Amino acid sequence: NWEISDFIETEVRKIREIVGNKKVMLGLSGGVDSSVAAVLIQKAIGNQLTCIFVDTGLLRKDEGDKVMKVYGEHFHMNIKRVNAEERFFFKLKGVNEPERKRKIIGNEFIRVFEEEAFKMEDIDFLAQGTIYPDIIESKSVKGPSAVIKSHHNVGGLPDELNLQLLEPLRELFKDEVRKVGIELGIPKELVYRHPFPGPGLGIRVVGEVDEEKVKILQQADEIFIEELIKHGLYDKVSQAFVVLLPVKSVGVMGDERTYEYTAVIRSANTVDFMTATWSKFPYEFLELVSNRIINEVKGINRVTYDISSKPPATIEWE
Ligand code: XMP
Repeated sequence: NWEISDFIETEVRKIREIVGNKKVMLGLSGGVDSSVAAVLIQKAIGNQLTCIFVDTGLLRKDEGDKVMKVYGEHFHMNIKRVNAEERFFFKLKGVNEPERKRKIIGNEFIRVFEEEAFKMEDIDFLAQGTIYPDIIESKSVKGPSAVIKSHHNVGGLPDELNLQLLEPLRELFKDEVRKVGIELGIPKELVYRHPFPGPGLGIRVVGEVDEEKVKILQQADEIFIEELIKHGLYDKVSQAFVVLLPVKSVGVMGDERTYEYTAVIRSANTVDFMTATWSKFPYEFLELVSNRIINEVKGINRVTYDISSKPPATIEWE
C-alpha cells in the first residue's frame, strides 16, 4: 500500500527531525491508537521512547502480560509496567454511580501517569495516539448537556512537566490507523480489536467494583470472545463483551443449590457507535456461550442476552 508506506516514511522522518536526540514518553494502553503511535515512534527513534503501561486491574484478562509480550518482547520497546490495580480498587470501594466511577478511574489514571512522568528524567516530549476524530469530538462538545458519558482519554498533561506533544496520528481516521498498524507489523488481531472503553471493566461490572467481580467478568468475557473468533463472528460485529450484574439468583448444579451473579452478553452492530443494533446470533451459538460461561466460571450461574438497540439503550451498561 503506497500511501500508507509513504505516510510512515514521512512521519518517521518528521519525528526524527522534531525529536532529535531528546526523549519521548508515551502512555501505552494496548489499544490500537496508542500502540500504532508507539510502534511508529519506536521505528523513528528507537529507545529514546519510553512507554508507560498502567495496569489498572480493569483490563481484559491477562492484558498486561500480553502487552508486555507483544510490545516489549516482540517489538523490543522500552516499556515500564505500573501495577496499580490495588490503588484503583481502593478508590472504587463503595462507589456505585457510573459517572463517579468514570471520574475516579480517569483521575487515578492521570495521577499514576503523572507520578511516573515525574520520576523520569530528561523527558521532553509526551507522545499520544490522538487521531483525527478525537480532535473533532472534543471540539464538538458544547457544554455539559452535550456530554452523555464523559470520555477520559483526551487528557491534559501537567504544565509543570513542560512537555511538548507529539501526535503522529492526528490527521488519520481509524481505518487509516489500522492500515498503518498492519504495515508496521502489529498482529492483525490487535489492530482489528473491538474498541474498549477507557474506564475498562470498571463500567462493565455494574454497581460497586471489586477485584473478585472483575476476575469473574474477565473469565466470562474471555470465553465469549474466544467463541466469537472460533465461529468467525468476531469480525462481523462492532463490539462484543460481557457485563456482570450485581444481581444474584438461585440455580442448581448437581445436587447443590447455587446463589450467584448474572452475566449479560452484549454485542452491537454499528457504523458510528451513535446508533446500534444488537447482533442476531444463532441460538445455538448463544447456547454454547451460555453453557460454557455457567460451567466454567465460578460465580456466575445465569447468562442473559441483551437485545436492546441504541438508542434508547447505550452499548455499555454504564
Ligand atoms: P455507549 O455506551 O455510549 O458507547 O453507547 C459508545 C462507545 O463508546 C465507548 N465508551 C467509552 N470509551 N471512555 C471511552 O474511552 C468512556 O468512558 C466510554 N464510555 C463508552 C463504548 O465502549 C462504545 O464503543
